[in-house]
Amino acid sequence: MTSTAPSTLPAPDAVRTVACVGAGVIGGGWVAHFLARGYHVVAWDPAPDAEARLRELVAAAWPALTQLGLATGASVDNLQVAATLADAVSRADFVQESAPERLDVKVELLAEIDRAAPEHVVVGSSTSGYGMSEMQTGATLHPERLVVGHPFNPPYLVPLVEVVGGRASADWAVRWASEFYRAAGKSVITLDSELPGFIGNRIQEAAWREALHMVANKEATVAQIDQAMTDGPGLRWAFHGPCLTFHLAGGDGGMAHMLDHFGPALRYPWTRLTAPELTDELRQDMVEGTERVVNGRTTAELIAQRDRRMIAVMRALAEVDRQEVDESTPGR
Ligand SMILES: NC(=O)c1ccc[n+]([C@@H]2O[C@H](COP(=O)([O-])OP(=O)(O)OC[C@H]3O[C@@H](n4cnc5c(N)ncnc54)[C@H](O)[C@@H]3O)[C@@H](O)[C@H]2O)c1
Repeated sequence: MTSTAPSTLPAPDAVRTVACVGAGVIGGGWVAHFLARGYHVVAWDPAPDAEARLRELVAAAWPALTQLGLATGASVDNLQVAATLADAVSRADFVQESAPERLDVKVELLAEIDRAAPEHVVVGSSTSGYGMSEMQTGATLHPERLVVGHPFNPPYLVPLVEVVGGRASADWAVRWASEFYRAAGKSVITLDSELPGFIGNRIQEAAWREALHMVANKEATVAQIDQAMTDGPGLRWAFHGPCLTFHLAGGDGGMAHMLDHFGPALRYPWTRLTAPELTDELRQDMVEGTERVVNGRTTAELIAQRDRRMIAVMRALAEVDRQEVDESTPGR
């Protein structure tokens, strides 16, 4: 859809206040990210214990964010929790929606946000897979400013956001949201069309489907699957995606040799499996197997361990990048 951006639209890097609607795992993670980047945040969540949960989540994330480096003026004191949705979104320059992944909830909520937010306020939805075309159907005033801004958990550490509009979204809103997320420190992919599951989830879900099949068929335990990923392909995927990884697997012949050599043999694994049936037994095996891997650690302990490790990986990669730049600088 083409339409002209409203004259009151702020520059993407002039945003000062972000409204976060829905403050669970992802909404709370967004709150922590925006606070650390120096924004003022107004949160709204209908759950009675939402504010306490949110403040706990932000406090738990803050040490990791401090370690990474806070923006000038960044403070947890810049968080306000609004009493109503309208109050939250009417004060914001941008809205991030992170309500539960149910289409009816998203449709109704985005319609409500559309009624309450000024016309120039762009709204990004954290949805993991719904298309904006199906979610914006209830918005009658300005559906053109509704886009998907899909993050990865935790949004305060994982850089990627996938941005895509729906049939009624305007090109200017998709562009503006992409630039805003970049200004807010994210790595952005702007998709041209509504791809089910976007890109990151398509890849994650394929790995997840295989894991469930192996547990359902008693071929591997949860612990073996997790070890196979962290000590195997996962280690490479932090810096080379699956395509460059397989390019190197083809030796000097690269991707072309990889496909010619392994393609015929891969036809079977590529086509073997459909969605696993989520039986009670499979559910129980997954839950019990994961409990064994968790081995008594609390969720808060696991989150702190995850954050320390992610920062260690990001720092190590940044250091290698720095060394490579130094080595390639002439005159050294
Ligand atoms: N968990 C993930 O790894 C992940 C990753 C990327 C995207 N997402 C997406 O983020 C969104 C939120 O997922 P989550 O994992 O944070 O869920 P969650 O259950 O942790 O949080 C949802 C929050 O929304 C609140 N809520 C309930 N009804 C609401 C309403 N009508 N309006 C506003 N808030 C409402 C709940 O009180 C809760 O705090 C979903 O769209 C999900 O697909 C999740």
